[in-house]
Amino acid sequence: MLQPNGGLLALISTPVWANLVDMRSSSSWNPGSWKTRSAAQQPDWPDAFALERSLKVLSGLPPLVFAGEARSLSASIAEVAAGRAFLLQAGDCAESFNDFTADSIRDKLRVILQMAAILTYGAGVPVVKVGRIAGQFAKPRSAPTEIVDGQEIPSFRGHLVNDDAPTLEARLPDPTRLLDAYNQSASTLNLLRAFAKGGFADLSQVHTWNREFVAQSPGGQRYETLASEIERALRFMRACGVDLAASALREVDFWTSHEALILGFEEAMTRRDSLTGDWYDTSAHLLWVGERTRDIDGAHLEFLSGISNPVAAKIGPTASPAEVVELCDKLDPDRVPGRLVLIARMGAGKVAGRLPALIDSVRSAGHPVAWTCDPMHGNTFVGSGGRKTRHLDHIMGEIGEFFDACRREGTWPGGVHIELTGDDVTECLGGTEEVFEDQLELRYTTTCDPRLNGGQSLDLAFQVAELLRR
Ligand code: PEP
Ligand code: CO
Repeated sequence: MLQPNGGLLALISTPVWANLVDMRSSSSWNPGSWKTRSAAQQPDWPDAFALERSLKVLSGLPPLVFAGEARSLSASIAEVAAGRAFLLQAGDCAESFNDFTADSIRDKLRVILQMAAILTYGAGVPVVKVGRIAGQFAKPRSAPTEIVDGQEIPSFRGHLVNDDAPTLEARLPDPTRLLDAYNQSASTLNLLRAFAKGGFADLSQVHTWNREFVAQSPGGQRYETLASEIERALRFMRACGVDLAASALREVDFWTSHEALILGFEEAMTRRDSLTGDWYDTSAHLLWVGERTRDIDGAHLEFLSGISNPVAAKIGPTASPAEVVELCDKLDPDRVPGRLVLIARMGAGKVAGRLPALIDSVRSAGHPVAWTCDPMHGNTFVGSGGRKTRHLDHIMGEIGEFFDACRREGTWPGGVHIELTGDDVTECLGGTEEVFEDQLELRYTTTCDPRLNGGQSLDLAFQVAELLRR
């Protein structure tokens, strides 16, 4: 088994934190303790030595994020849990090694900034911005293999593991991809940090975030009006003597997240923080466990239980109240606000019957979680042309039901979790510039699930802002 990187440890001469650490985490936890549990959704790596080689290299590479950043995100999520902020978690279903350009990163960031501006200005709540980006490369699958042209081949598991081309050769898990994913994540994060702090996200740029094809859509035009209002408000503030050079207006915090699925990769990225002695998975600020891997005794929960990053769990329609409370006990035994986000993904029509009991039992058990809604994964269906798709009406339907359920339970509807792209794709149906079923073929470029395009993302943000205002 690999030993976690000793580099940061070596910075500390006296392990004053050692006792503290042992008191805080279960004594049997370590970054590799997940291996004592059953791990669902792991690839059959054909070459164990090549895998070990990649993991060893990874464990010696610099962290992608810093523990202090993860703690800042926890503090922001605590604001969400307390009902004082809204979490916008959004990005690709699966990032691609093939679609990796500065433009595509910028365009994803800009649609998220537009949505955040709509929510902040339209509803008056601070928005915590978390991308499904800079590491979202691994996918759980419903079956380990599929039949293509009569041949059984391994399923596509995300570019962290194999290629999406439907051939036996492309689908063989290749551990050199772990290093490619690290490198692509590092470059992506570098650019995101530059955009977030270097002027691109400056609120005075609110007009320039609208891309041409989006600006022509009804959602984009509505956004233009809102951007003009924001500019007018900024002029007013300047005239009143407010310093617009203040960093709160010129810079944003933009955080990264992905599903912690391939546990060897996550283990290799896990390091001990030299300031606190706590373990952090340095591959992203926030890690989540998916609907298919949240088994209470399984390897994924074991891994997430010991890292100090904020963590999230998808909660689907079959989850029982007892099961969800057990999950909270495992991931957040100390009941720390900002530690745990529960992402309900029930499917439209299923929320009212299932979510209230879950909210109630989690609250009764004293867990200060942030509840958010993923309206994407419970609303996927196969269109008449054979493409997987989702309809914006169903997506908005589930968000509306989520808001209703939270309000009935006296809980803050803390956020949304959205699959989107800045590109002008035709993958999801509906929207004010409507995409119809016979248009899905036009620009369907996702490597996994269908994403909202820029116009549909703005439509969604306007409707969520209205829900928040009520
Ligand atoms: C996902 O977020 O891409 C995903 C697979 O979600 P879930 O685990 O909720 O199905
Ligand atoms: Co998805």
